Amino acid sequence: MKVIVGVSGGIAAYKAAELVRALQRQALDVQVVMTAAAQRFITPLTFASLTGHRVITGLWTEPEGGGNEGVAAEPGGFRSAIDHIEEAGSAKALVVAPATANLLAKFAVGIADDFLTTLYLATTAPVIVAPAMNVNMWEHPATRANLEVLQSRGVKIVPPEKGYLACGMTGSGRLAEPAAIVQAVLAQLQMRNDLAGEVVLVTAGGTREAIDPVRYLGNRSSGKMGYAIAEAARQRGARVILVTAPTSLRPPAGCEVAPVVSTAEMRDAVMSRLHEATIVIKAAAVADYRPRIPADQKLKRSGPLTLEFEPTEDILSEVALRRRPEMLVIGFAAETQDPLAHARGKLSRKGADAIVVNDVSRPGTGFDSDRNAVTFLTANTAIELPEMTKKELAERILDEVLALRRPASLVAESGLVSSRAEEPE
Ligand code: CTP
Repeated sequence: MKVIVGVSGGIAAYKAAELVRALQRQALDVQVVMTAAAQRFITPLTFASLTGHRVITGLWTEPEGGGNEGVAAEPGGFRSAIDHIEEAGSAKALVVAPATANLLAKFAVGIADDFLTTLYLATTAPVIVAPAMNVNMWEHPATRANLEVLQSRGVKIVPPEKGYLACGMTGSGRLAEPAAIVQAVLAQLQMRNDLAGEVVLVTAGGTREAIDPVRYLGNRSSGKMGYAIAEAARQRGARVILVTAPTSLRPPAGCEVAPVVSTAEMRDAVMSRLHEATIVIKAAAVADYRPRIPADQKLKRSGPLTLEFEPTEDILSEVALRRRPEMLVIGFAAETQDPLAHARGKLSRKGADAIVVNDVSRPGTGFDSDRNAVTFLTANTAIELPEMTKKELAERILDEVLALRRPASLVAESGLVSSRAEEPE
C-alpha cells in the first residue's frame, strides 16, 4: 500500500527520514514529495535512497536533476505534474511532516503553487499533518485558525510536542515522534469502508416546541450520540444525511446536514429524504407533545398558567410504516426505569429492527456526557455494549446494524452468535 510523505521546509525536515523508515516498517510503500524550502535542509537524494523512488521536487521534473542525481531516471524522461498527480492518486494517504506554518496556511486557503500544495487539493485520500515550528508561530491565532479549518475538513493533525526547539526557545512546536505519526497514518488507513454504498439517515439533537415567540419546550439531549454515529458512518464510506435539531456541535465533515427545530420540521425533513436512505437511525430525542396553539405574542406573567398539549407525529413509527424492504430502521430509547421492558415494547410498537436503549438514570453516562452504555435490542437478541465513549459506541452500534444485514447462517458461521447474550424468553 502506497503513502505519500510530504516534507516542507523546517529544521525538522531531517526527521522525516526517520518517519519514512518507520512507515516502511509497516510494509508501506513510501513516495516522498519535497517543497523547495525542504530541499535546503535535506537533499532529495536521502529520501530517494531510502525509498527507491525518485523524489517529486516540483511541478515539472526533468529526467536528470531535481536533486535526484545518482538515482535511476524516470522511464519516459520528462514528467509533468499531471503524470505525478495521477501516480500519487494511487496513494492511500498523504502525510506531511514536518508541516510548516506557511504550508498549513496554504493548505487552509487552497493555494496550489508547488507540487505538494497542488497534490493536497487533488488527493481524495486521508490527509495527516504533523506541524513543527517555533512556539510563537504555533500559538499564533493565524496558525490556530488555519488548523481549525483543516480539522473541520477532516485533516488529521498530529500535534507537536513540548521541548527545546531549534530556535532556542522551549515550548510546543517540536515535530511529534515518528511513532505517533505512524499511528495516526495507520488509524486513517485502517478506516473500514464497510458502509460504502449505504445512505445513512441519522436524526440527532433534541427537538424544541414553541410555547410563545421566545420560549420553547425542550429536552436535555446534546446530540453527541447522533453526531458520533453520523461521523463514524461517513468515515466508513456511507453517504450520510444528518437531520439535526439544534445542538452546540459542529456537524461532522462530509455529511449532508438538514437543520430543523421542531418535531414537525424533523418529520418533514426525514420524510422528504426517506426515499434515499438505506439505513435510518433515529438518535434524536423527539418531543412527544407540543403546545396545541403556541401564543402569537410573548406570554405575560399573570397568575397560574395552563397550557394545552397535543401529541406530536411519531416519526419512527411512520418511517417503519413507509420503509422499503431493504431499509434498516433503528430507534433509540432513553429510559429511567426498567429500560429493557420499555424498549421491548417500543421495538414491537414502532416496528423498528432494533432499539438502542440506555438507562439515563446511571450517573456519568447518557445526556450531555461523552460516555454511554447501551443495549442493542432486536426481536431475538439483547447485546450489551458496556460503558465507553460515544465515538467508540457509534462504531459498535454501526457494527451491530450491519450485522442485521447478514443472513443468520453467516452470523452463526462467523462465531458472532456466541458473543451475543441471547435474550431470555
Ligand atoms: N421518536 C420519534 N418521534 C416521536 C417520539 C419519538 O421518532 N414523536 C423516536 C425517537 O427518535 C427514538 C424512539 O422514537 O428513536 C423512542 O423515543 P421515545 O421518546 O423513547 O419513545 P416514545 O414512544 O415517545 O416513548 P415514551 O413514552 O417513553 O416517551
